[in-house]
Amino acid sequence: MSTQIPFKRITTHVLAEMKLRGEKISMLTGYDFSMARILDDAGIDVILVGDSASNVMAGYESTLPITLDMMIYHAASVVRAVSRALVVVDLPFGTYQGNSKEALASAIRIMKETGAHAVKLEGGQEICESINRILSAGIPVMGHLGLTPQSIHKFGTYVVRATDEKEAEKLMQDALILEKTGCFSIVLEKIPAKLAAKVCSSVNIPVIGIGAGREVDGQVLVLHDMLGITTEFSPRFLRRYHNLFDEIKGSVRNYISDVKNLEFPNDREQY
Ligand code: KIV
Repeated sequence: MSTQIPFKRITTHVLAEMKLRGEKISMLTGYDFSMARILDDAGIDVILVGDSASNVMAGYESTLPITLDMMIYHAASVVRAVSRALVVVDLPFGTYQGNSKEALASAIRIMKETGAHAVKLEGGQEICESINRILSAGIPVMGHLGLTPQSIHKFGTYVVRATDEKEAEKLMQDALILEKTGCFSIVLEKIPAKLAAKVCSSVNIPVIGIGAGREVDGQVLVLHDMLGITTEFSPRFLRRYHNLFDEIKGSVRNYISDVKNLEFPNDREQY
């Protein structure tokens, strides 16, 4: 039985209303048609076509190698599956930093070629010109602060961000700037829960956390992590709802054994 709540297309305005009402926002990453259909049917509010596709779909070590064309392929597949959720797409590394014209061109390609509803960019004050230009074309923008994986070579590690006062203050200022610039929402990744709560109560736009505690307006996880398809990644904030790696492996082993032992197909499974 589907658990889908009555049909209402989720828009950026619906998310703003949810913050006002105190209703938490659910968000998961999605990269392909079949999974996106399940997420949408389950009633997820937002599907993020994250550049984590670089890791979980393409097998790269970081999010840096994924290209705009690859993101467009994933996003178009997700959009074809969705009838309710808001679909947000990451602008990949190198398609928006330092050049607002290129940022706009990248965002326009995503919107035109995929049918997605919004884009997400990593960074604060330093990418405001790009955000401004994208917004001026009527494209909704989600911000992303804290641990920003596209800057992993600057940070050097994936440890918790903004634990010292200086970085915490910069993050707070960046959140205020993103709100003032016109972002409709902000993702906060891997920062202290207290700081995330403070940011959340300081801005009027919805704040979605990943490893940012529960006093934010919503939560996001990488789908393959929460389903236990990935196994090597176990940060404290990750709750695994399944162990699909072992489940799928078990099914494949059963299939191999059935084929080898002539148990598949049986009489009823042939013409
Ligand atoms: O790419 C991604 O999956 C993300 C989430 C971690 C927020 O940006």
